[in-house]
Amino acid sequence: MELRSVEELMDLLHACRGAWDTPDLPRSRLHPSGGRPVGDPVDLHDHALQTAALLRRGRPSDKELQVAGLVHDIGHLLRPGDDAGHADHAADAIRPLLGERVSRLVRLHVAAKRYLATASPRGLPPRSTSTPAAQGGAMTPREATAFEHDPLAEDAVTLRQADDAGKVVGLYAGDMEDWRTVLELVAERSARLGAVD
Ligand SMILES: [Fe+2]
Ligand SMILES: [Fe+2]
Repeated sequence: MELRSVEELMDLLHACRGAWDTPDLPRSRLHPSGGRPVGDPVDLHDHALQTAALLRRGRPSDKELQVAGLVHDIGHLLRPGDDAGHADHAADAIRPLLGERVSRLVRLHVAAKRYLATASPRGLPPRSTSTPAAQGGAMTPREATAFEHDPLAEDAVTLRQADDAGKVVGLYAGDMEDWRTVLELVAERSARLGAVD
């Protein structure tokens, strides 16, 4: 599925309210066997807003990075249950609308997690360590080196850090509608550049 308008994307972002990254285990938050947390503790709507707000604070001039943070997990809605493919589904869907760089940042958010798991295996908060296995586990040294050579690697890691921090239960991070004009701006710039055919 490809998103062709900001309107369509906004509808999808609003639909993130009450949607979770682990649709099969929506609110039980605890693993039945050991009490281990599964999935994120906030819904995809709050997670999107918190991630984007953190990036706006840290990188105020980089609107593309901010909207990448906003939309990075919409793959969970586009193809529910396909955790391994969620970054690719989101990246493919937004590419025609938001352009190549935003699409690549979204695509890299899983790789960046694997990279961070490699670089500092104990540095990730407990909830994040459960996902990399399903999404490929830590990187091999060769994969990590290749990742570091990607020109977007640093931005992807910045997004990932906001992603991992943007999971605070009950934290208000703004209104989804506040992002409509920012999305329109990025979409207009992308259309003007004509970078995507
Ligand atoms: Fe994700
Ligand atoms: Fe996320």
